Amino acid sequence: MIRIQVLHGPNLNLLGTRDPAVYGTTTLAEIDAELVARGAARGAEVRCAQANSEGALVDLIQAARDWADAIVINPAGYTHTSVAIRDALDAVALPAIEVHLSNIHAREAFRHTSLVAPVCVGQICGFGPQSYYLGLDAALARVEATARDGLPKKGR
Ligand code: DQA
Repeated sequence: MIRIQVLHGPNLNLLGTRDPAVYGTTTLAEIDAELVARGAARGAEVRCAQANSEGALVDLIQAARDWADAIVINPAGYTHTSVAIRDALDAVALPAIEVHLSNIHAREAFRHTSLVAPVCVGQICGFGPQSYYLGLDAALARVEATARDGLPKKGR
């Protein structure tokens, strides 16, 4: 069974009420339930976790090494600032898919830079909650391709 760890960064626990014009009204619990259901339909186990602090996210990334085949991560505000989260993703050497609800490239200039993008397989942004579901698809496709074709784990 393929195992996918989904990680949500700071303030994403407020989804549903946080700036609905940008982030929509779907709650994090609803997104997590959908991810688990979609994973199960594909024969995969999906675990979801959210943390507001940088160190807690680093711990969750490190813990994924012992369990997951791939990570889907929305580092939220830390996307644009965190060398520590970038280094953790690099260190655990699991394929990681970066996701964002909003199109970070169409927003303020400080959101255009992602420190984690270079250590991820790819980035999906701008599709609201669908970004997570596409991210899950991408993670599953990546793990399946690695098993089938012997691709390098990170593919970069
Ligand atoms: C976000 C985009 C980030 O710039 C922002 O800080 C977030 C959410 C998104 O999902 O669109 O908290 O990662």
